[in-house]
Amino acid sequence: MGRNVLGLWFCLSLAFISTCVHGDLEPQPDTQALNRMNSDFSFRLYKSIASGARSENVFFSPLSVSMALAALSLGAGGETHHQLLSGLGLNSSVFTCEEMHQSFLDLLKNLNQNTEVNLEVGTAVYIHESFKPHPEFLQKMKRFYLSDGFSVDFTKTTETADQMNAYVSEKTHGKISNFIKDLDPRTIMYLLSYIYFKGKWATQFDPKMTKKDVFHVDEETNVPVEMMYMKDKFQGYYDRELSAHALRLDYKDSFSMILVLPDKNLTAVEEALSLHHITRWNTWMQKREYNIYVPKLSLKTSYSLKNILIEMGMKDMFTPKANLTGISDQNLFISEAVHEATLDVDEAGATAAAVTGISFMPLSFHFTETLKFNRPFIIFITDQITKNILFMGKIVNPEYSAA
Ligand SMILES: *[C@@H]1O[C@H](CO)[C@@H](O)[C@H](O)[C@H]1NC(C)=O
Ligand SMILES: *[C@@H]1O[C@H](CO)[C@@H](O)[C@H](O)[C@H]1NC(C)=O
Ligand SMILES: *[C@@H]1O[C@H](CO)[C@@H](O)[C@H](O)[C@H]1NC(C)=O
Repeated sequence: MGRNVLGLWFCLSLAFISTCVHGDLEPQPDTQALNRMNSDFSFRLYKSIASGARSENVFFSPLSVSMALAALSLGAGGETHHQLLSGLGLNSSVFTCEEMHQSFLDLLKNLNQNTEVNLEVGTAVYIHESFKPHPEFLQKMKRFYLSDGFSVDFTKTTETADQMNAYVSEKTHGKISNFIKDLDPRTIMYLLSYIYFKGKWATQFDPKMTKKDVFHVDEETNVPVEMMYMKDKFQGYYDRELSAHALRLDYKDSFSMILVLPDKNLTAVEEALSLHHITRWNTWMQKREYNIYVPKLSLKTSYSLKNILIEMGMKDMFTPKANLTGISDQNLFISEAVHEATLDVDEAGATAAAVTGISFMPLSFHFTETLKFNRPFIIFITDQITKNILFMGKIVNPEYSAA
């Protein structure tokens, strides 16, 4: 029994995946390819995050992360671009990079349609006043990712952080209000992607039935919870291969939360889980009567994505090898990628929000390069004002310096 409830944390972390898929609208072929790519990315990202957080709650928005990375890929070239696309799981025999951007645009438009749930998804890019990215990069950010653009002074760290936090707070309806904690004055660009979801259950829980109960974290640890209760017909499926129950709670509209309760070992389910399980549940789920108990939840998570993305193969962008020539000819690299998410579940419905932030710095600021002139080199002595070369030469063998 104890271990059963533990599984809930797991499914909550997955819940957002399914809430992000519109069931009713017939997706375009390219959108289907994108949905498959995003789902596959979700599971890989989940495993990577969860492996470092075995006994912690996990909750994030894979869509916010993949959207930020796909937008970033607009500015990446060479090996950095390749690593981003392969990290995202783009299969070029299924669709091209251009088609991926176009599909993200279709998805953004589709998700932002007014429906019975409140869903807002978008991106923004903040640029340091004196930094001039290639106009094509900004045009594509706007065209494919409907990006808002702002010019800021990153050296005024408090003022700019306040401005960015106000934007994030507005977009997430106050759920994430202090996203940028300390802004590095060396930042020259910052890319944000946000998502906000608020849905009411198709059938709501009766607050009078909510009772104090215990949640069994593990064999030794129990914690108190407010447990909601309902007896009704729900879509459910018992997955024999995983030894786990899957239960679907529908929101008004086409969104739903899928909760997965392993019989005993959460870790085993976590490791085995992939997209085909969700497909299988959705295919085989049947409506039947259940007594369900779901704890009220209010949680906040925060992740540094840098090591997670590196582990997923997207490593060059964090190093001097970063190729961001699509953004600027100046050498840039990514100093950090962070993600924050919140989830609230109560009798009326669920609210979830997430933000992904990617900060860019000029290479010259960060890495201390070592240059050792211990092999033949060239010398100029120039006048920096008139640009005249006063002297020039080469040093091939310093031993013969005194001729
Ligand atoms: C960076 O990417 C651009 C565009 O793809 C490419 O032309 C250039 O060769 C790459 N530079 C390096 C050092 O790989
Ligand atoms: C890419 O998609 C094709 C066609 O669906 C498939 O045969 C191939 O295995 C996929 N490649 C990868 C690396 O997933
Ligand atoms: C749960 O499954 C994992 C992976 O299959 C295994 O390493 C672990 O020992 C199992 N734990 C229990 C309590 O059975």
